[in-house]
Amino acid sequence: MLKGRHLTEPGDFTLEELDEVFDLADDIIEHEEDYLDAAHGKLLATLFYEPSTRTRFSFEAAMLRLGGQVIGFSDPKASSAAKGESLTDTVRTVSCYADAAVLRHPREGTAHLVAKTITDMPIINAGDGGHEHPTQTLTDLLTIRHELGSCDNKVVGVCGDLLFGRTIHSLVKTLNRYSGNKFVFISPKELCMPEHIKAHLAPDSYVETDSLDDVIGDLDILYMSRVQRERFVSEEEYIRLKDYYILDHNKMKHARPDMIVMHPLPRVNEIAVEVDKDPRAKYFDQAKYGMYVRMALLSKLMGVENNVKRSEA
Ligand code: CP
Repeated sequence: MLKGRHLTEPGDFTLEELDEVFDLADDIIEHEEDYLDAAHGKLLATLFYEPSTRTRFSFEAAMLRLGGQVIGFSDPKASSAAKGESLTDTVRTVSCYADAAVLRHPREGTAHLVAKTITDMPIINAGDGGHEHPTQTLTDLLTIRHELGSCDNKVVGVCGDLLFGRTIHSLVKTLNRYSGNKFVFISPKELCMPEHIKAHLAPDSYVETDSLDDVIGDLDILYMSRVQRERFVSEEEYIRLKDYYILDHNKMKHARPDMIVMHPLPRVNEIAVEVDKDPRAKYFDQAKYGMYVRMALLSKLMGVENNVKRSEA
C-alpha cells in the first residue's frame, strides 16, 4: 500500500512496490485519457530550493494531466525562507494546504529530515544535494523496462561525475537490487564512485576505469552524466574536468547496435548534439517517461489510482 507514504530514496519501496508504480505508468501511457480526472480536487506543492527544469515541470505536468492542481515556488527567495523561516516550518505549513509535496534542496539528507516530522502528507524527494534523486531512478527504470524489456542482467556503464551525481547514486543502488546487473564506472579518479555507494555492491559486480573508449563496446546501457559544477569547491578544478568525456558520433561507432544512451539531463558538453539523431539516444524519451512515472507515483501516494474512467473499447 503506497497511499500516504514518503519517497526519500528508492530503498523506501520494495521491488514489488516499484513494479506497481511501473505497471500503473504503463497503463497511463496506454490509456492516458482514462486518468484525466483521477486527481480532481487534489493539490500538489512543489518546493524547489534549487533550479530544475525536468523534475519540477514533469511533476507539475503530471499533476495537471491527472486533473489536479499545483502550488509552490521555484525560488525560495519568493517564500518566507527569505525571512528566515526553517524548512520544517515551511513544509509543515504547506501540509495544511496540499495533498503531497515535492521537495528539492541543496543539502544532503533534507528530505529524510522533513519526512520524519510530517505525518499527514507524502513528501517526495526531488533531489537532496549530491545524495539521492529517487524519482529520476523511477524515470530511468521505466525507460530501461520500455527500451530493453527488463531491469535485470544488464551491463551498465555510468560515465562522468560519479562523485556528486545523485541520479547515479540512486540508480546504481537500485539496479543492484535486480538480478544479474554488472556496472562499469567510468570517471576521472577525482570524480570516482564514492566508497559508500560501492559498499552496497558485490566486489565482482563492478569495474572502474577512466577510459570510455576501452569499454563502450561491452555495454547494454551507457548512462552519461554532467559534471556537477554547483557541487565543486574550486572553479578551476571544475574547468579542468568538465569536458573529460564527450560522447560523439565517432565514439558511438564502437558501441553495440542495441546499446542505449541515457542521461538524466541537463547536458552541457558531455553528449555532442550530433548523437541526438542516433536511434540509440534515449535521453529525451527518458524525460517523457519521467512525466508518466510521476503521474503513476502521485496517483499511488495520493490514493487516487482507481479514480479511472475507462473509455469504451
Ligand atoms: N534530471 C533532472 O533532475 O533535471 P532537472 O535538474 O532539470 O530537474
